[in-house]
Amino acid sequence: MKIALGADHGGFPLKRILHLRLEEKGHSVLDQGTDSDAAVDYPDYALKVAECVVSGEADRGIMLCGSGVGACVAANKVPGIRAGLCHDTFSARQGVVDDDVNVLCLGARVIGPELAIEIVDAWLKARFSKAERHQRRLNKVLALERHFSGRAKK
Ligand code: RB5
Repeated sequence: MKIALGADHGGFPLKRILHLRLEEKGHSVLDQGTDSDAAVDYPDYALKVAECVVSGEADRGIMLCGSGVGACVAANKVPGIRAGLCHDTFSARQGVVDDDVNVLCLGARVIGPELAIEIVDAWLKARFSKAERHQRRLNKVLALERHFSGRAKK
């Protein structure tokens, strides 16, 4: 799978580990930075990851920050992105099977690398079920996105 991988400075140490592990497992990693511990702004990197996914350059994205919260909030502002903050394997799997999550967000200051790898594995193995009830709910989410696109207050 082609995976866009991004992080702010809080997520950078985990990004290095995940990048290697994903390549070891045969995935193609599109690394969107950041590439050091120097402080940066997570929305800039969430946007890069999101753009890779919505353009089709990547099949899915993984975005890391300290808590994972800012990364998730920012990524979800991009139409077409369904980002989920998952710190357990059940949520990571169900987020894809039920909700078709296409960007996984992780907090590098919340979980350790081994759990992060297990979560990423569970998420990558999962596929959207396309079950009628889940497709219906996803269609409602997409309708919300269309309805509110371009209507944000300045
Ligand atoms: C950066 O210090 C931190 O705010 C960021 O990595 C993230 O946790 C935001 O949600």
